[in-house]
Amino acid sequence: MSSDITVSDLKKTFAGGARRARSNAPLFDGLSLSITAGELVALVGPSGCGKSTMLNLVAGLDRPDRGEIRFDHGQADIDLSVVFQQPRLLDWLTVEDNIRVVFERDGKKKGNAAHITHDLLARVGLTEHAHTYPQFLSGGQRQRVAIARAFAISPDILLLDEPFSALDELTARRLRLLLQDLWLGEGHRPTGILVTHNMLEAAFLADRIYVLSGRPATFSSIIDVDLPRPRSLDDPVLFDVHRRIMQALT
Ligand SMILES: Nc1ncnc2c1ncn2[C@@H]1O[C@H](COP(=O)(O)OP(=O)(O)OP(=O)(O)O)[C@@H](O)[C@H]1O
Ligand SMILES: [Mg+2]
Repeated sequence: MSSDITVSDLKKTFAGGARRARSNAPLFDGLSLSITAGELVALVGPSGCGKSTMLNLVAGLDRPDRGEIRFDHGQADIDLSVVFQQPRLLDWLTVEDNIRVVFERDGKKKGNAAHITHDLLARVGLTEHAHTYPQFLSGGQRQRVAIARAFAISPDILLLDEPFSALDELTARRLRLLLQDLWLGEGHRPTGILVTHNMLEAAFLADRIYVLSGRPATFSSIIDVDLPRPRSLDDPVLFDVHRRIMQALT
């Protein structure tokens, strides 16, 4: 089941060094946003404006100074997956076991672990590498394992922090399409938040794009991407959205 995400009146400050007064300014002060279950939204904005911090707060990896982040069922029931810029695989486990490892804390789905893993490996095109160790894979293959692992639990919420930015453009294009396929293929599409510096990627994947800027950060623009799915990476509408994001940022 996917879940609404409601962020209200968020305040977050990191204690900075005394030498730079600005670093003590709150990153967020009264920021709110609402994402409906099954939507995929993108957060874009300059480096350091707080995008990864926002994902960490939603993931529960960090706590706000004020405000709250609510899901539509209690936090304990939420299955949440995160894909980072680096694949963060366990080097001592094979590809297959890197995916299966997520079932260890989820008794319900354990019975299906072999089937789900097999199916996901096929969907990300890595069946022949099921027994390979990560060090023998390319960067794009490793990130495909990370994406497969994220989908293995059929997450309610999927957080993506620059998932393709460490890859060459051709591989990144392929993985954007793969992500769209996996996301569309879920019975209950996870509610997604994608952080990216690639504006075409944001336009391609998101239902709505939040342009963050300033300190404390505010949304300088919120852009709806009203395009049916599956989308094409070369749809001219994406370039129009790209132009609007850049206008909001400059
Ligand atoms: N754990 C932390 N302790 C202290 N300061 C932090 C911490 N995490 C982030 N910051 C600071 O908060 C600010 C926002 O960081 P964040 O990583 O959220 O930015 P970002 O928008 O994701 O940037 P980028 O696009 O470069 O990834 C930065 O100034 C950073 O130094
Ligand atoms: Mg970041």
